[in-house]
Amino acid sequence: MAADRRAKADTLALRRQLIRYPGRGWAARGCAGRHAHAPRTHARRTSSCRLFFPEDPVKIVRAQGQYMYDEQGAEYIDCINNVAHVGHCHPLVVQAAHEQNQVLNTNSRYLHDNIVDYAQRLSETLPEQLCVFYFLNSGSEANDLALRLARHYTGHQDVVVLDHAYHGHLSSLIDISPYKFRNLDGQKEWVHVAPLPDTYRGPYQKDHPNPAVAYANEVKRVVSSAQEKGRKIAAFFAESLPSVGGQIIPPAGYFSQVAEHIHRAGGVFVADEIQVGFGRVGKHFWAFQLQGKDFVPDIVTMGKSIGNGHPVACVATTQPVARAFEATGVEYFNTFGGSPVSCAVGLAVLNVLEKEQLQAHASSVGSFLMELLGQQKIKHPIIGDVRGVGLFIGVDLIKDEATRTPATEEAAYLVSRLKENYILLSTDGPGRNILKFKPPMCFSLDNAQHVVAKLDAILTDMEEKVRSCETLRLQP
Ligand SMILES: Cc1ncc(COP(=O)(O)O)c(C=O)c1O
Repeated sequence: MAADRRAKADTLALRRQLIRYPGRGWAARGCAGRHAHAPRTHARRTSSCRLFFPEDPVKIVRAQGQYMYDEQGAEYIDCINNVAHVGHCHPLVVQAAHEQNQVLNTNSRYLHDNIVDYAQRLSETLPEQLCVFYFLNSGSEANDLALRLARHYTGHQDVVVLDHAYHGHLSSLIDISPYKFRNLDGQKEWVHVAPLPDTYRGPYQKDHPNPAVAYANEVKRVVSSAQEKGRKIAAFFAESLPSVGGQIIPPAGYFSQVAEHIHRAGGVFVADEIQVGFGRVGKHFWAFQLQGKDFVPDIVTMGKSIGNGHPVACVATTQPVARAFEATGVEYFNTFGGSPVSCAVGLAVLNVLEKEQLQAHASSVGSFLMELLGQQKIKHPIIGDVRGVGLFIGVDLIKDEATRTPATEEAAYLVSRLKENYILLSTDGPGRNILKFKPPMCFSLDNAQHVVAKLDAILTDMEEKVRSCETLRLQP
């Protein structure tokens, strides 16, 4: 009995201990951390802004390639940062920005070669229909413009989105981001939510004869039910690989089927490539291309990796969509978007991707990492699924195989232990139980081996602790 009580108390202690680490709602606590200096101003950090590892934040002062360095000089492997796409502070990108900054940085109302060259280079990576480019400063701006374009072109208002999606922080985008609006005023009448095409947890799984058609039919059902209420669909928005939703790999053919339903309803297909574009998936330059040769979105939005840390974003679309926007007679002006410096940076990123063959590199390192993680899945029952393509990989942690309940606390604990081992990794998905690998594209085979060896050691230790009913306690 005493042993039982002790085990129960330990489990409770474990819960209490772990509950501190999910990183949700606790951000304000100790956010200045042990590295903070005494405040010199009245400026205050708001708890709306969250830090990684809020209980023990890291103060990063320098970064290079796939490595980040804290103020003590400790080196961390960065498995998180898909913005520093070709590597933190890549010298050629830094140099391109510096050189252009010394000559001219102004808005796009003057002729300049950089913007023309850049649009030309981007168009070479895309299907030829996507030949009109708007340059902006952030992924949110890109998705907001995509929404405006879709509405002008179709004359409709409504949007279909995937559950748990995040498309940006502007008011218009919070409205189409279930990940956010579910915690705010809820769903607007012009927004319609379709299930994530998740073949691990969703209603149609890997054993289904045709999950692509089954999930696309869900979109058709959502569209029909909106139309029955007199609503008209302007657009379907989806990340080409839903990342915030939990590193989901939609079954091939799903997007083409969805596009048919959306086009029939008079809407357009918007592919959000903000996290997953620019060769990350290895096999292709754009993640939507995984869906098949014949699939072409009407609008593609780009951000994050496009500028390797410099604020650049882009919307690519077709001539008919752009003409409908022109026909309003309202000019599109963006003070910083498409500046000579932004375009020089964008060009440098494309040059480095090509010169260092990072797309092929993502393919080979990604396959190797998937293989290593697959071996871990056989060894550790907490790993329910390993899914991914190129350097976009998710490891789904579960409490048990029968229920596939998200192992949320364990995932948070694991990420904290990895950080103690100088590996920066994050979690995602509605249950915050998916380990999310999206490192800079120069992440190496050695890095993959090292990270998985640490993961293995920590999981083995966790299993031993759970077996002996010991608390999974982090060092203070
Ligand atoms: C898929 C996706 N779309 C859009 C955005 C918004 O981009 P930004 O933060 O640059 O405005 C994000 C940012 O996290 C994102 O992950």
